[in-house]
Amino acid sequence: MAGDRDVLTAIRQRRAVRHFEDAPVTRDQMLDVIRAARWAPAAGNKRVQRYVAVLDPTTIRLIRTVTPGMAGHPKGLIVVCLDWERVAALGYGGSRSIFYVDIGTATENMLLAAQAIGLGAGPVTSFSKEAVSVLLRLPSRLTPELMVILGHPVPRRTEHQSRPRTPTRLGDLVIWEHFSSDRANDHGY
Ligand SMILES: Cc1cc2nc3c(=O)[nH]c(=O)nc-3n(C[C@H](O)[C@H](O)[C@H](O)COP(=O)(O)O)c2cc1C
Repeated sequence: MAGDRDVLTAIRQRRAVRHFEDAPVTRDQMLDVIRAARWAPAAGNKRVQRYVAVLDPTTIRLIRTVTPGMAGHPKGLIVVCLDWERVAALGYGGSRSIFYVDIGTATENMLLAAQAIGLGAGPVTSFSKEAVSVLLRLPSRLTPELMVILGHPVPRRTEHQSRPRTPTRLGDLVIWEHFSSDRANDHGY
C-alpha cells in the first residue's frame, strides 16, 4: 500500500480549537465528521457509541453553562454517548474501559475529519453529565461521555494554534523492547 505522508502532516497539525467565528456549521459538515467516527477502530466492532449532533444555538448556549471545559462559543457539538442497553445486550463480561478506548479512537477521527473540511474542533470532557443528559433529554441508557466542539476557528486567536506543541521528548515516551530502570532506554530523542 502506498504511504500517505499527508496523514502524518494532518496528525501533526491538528490542535484543540477552543475559539470560533460566528459562521455556522452545517448539517453536512456534522455528518462528514460523524462519518469519520464510523470508520474508527472499535473493540470487537461492537459500536456502542451514539452521537448526539447539536446545532441549535440555544441548546449549545445552555450546554455551555454546565460545561466548564468549554472556553469559547462553538457552533456545533457532537456529544459522544455510551449506550448501556447495547452494552448489556452484548452480554459482555469484560472491562468496560474498552468502550472508553473506542470513544478515544472515534474522537481522534472526528478531530482530524473536522480539520480536513476546514473546521476547528476540540475534545471536551469537563461538563456535568447529569445536566447535559437533561438538556439533551437522554434516556437513562445513554450517558454523555465526551463532546467534540466545532466551528470555524478564529485565526491565530487561541494560544494553542500559535504555540508550538508541548515539547514532550520522544525518549520520555518510548520504551524499547522492555522496561529497564537504568537509563539504557534514553536514546537522546
Ligand atoms: C479526554 C480529553 C479531554 C479533554 N477535555 C478538555 C476540556 O474539557 N476542555 C478543553 O478545553 N480541552 C480539553 N481537552 C483538550 C486537551 O487539553 C488538548 O488536547 C491538549 O492540551 C493538547 O493540545 P492539542 O490537542 O492542541 O495538541 C481534552 C482532551 C482529551 C483527550
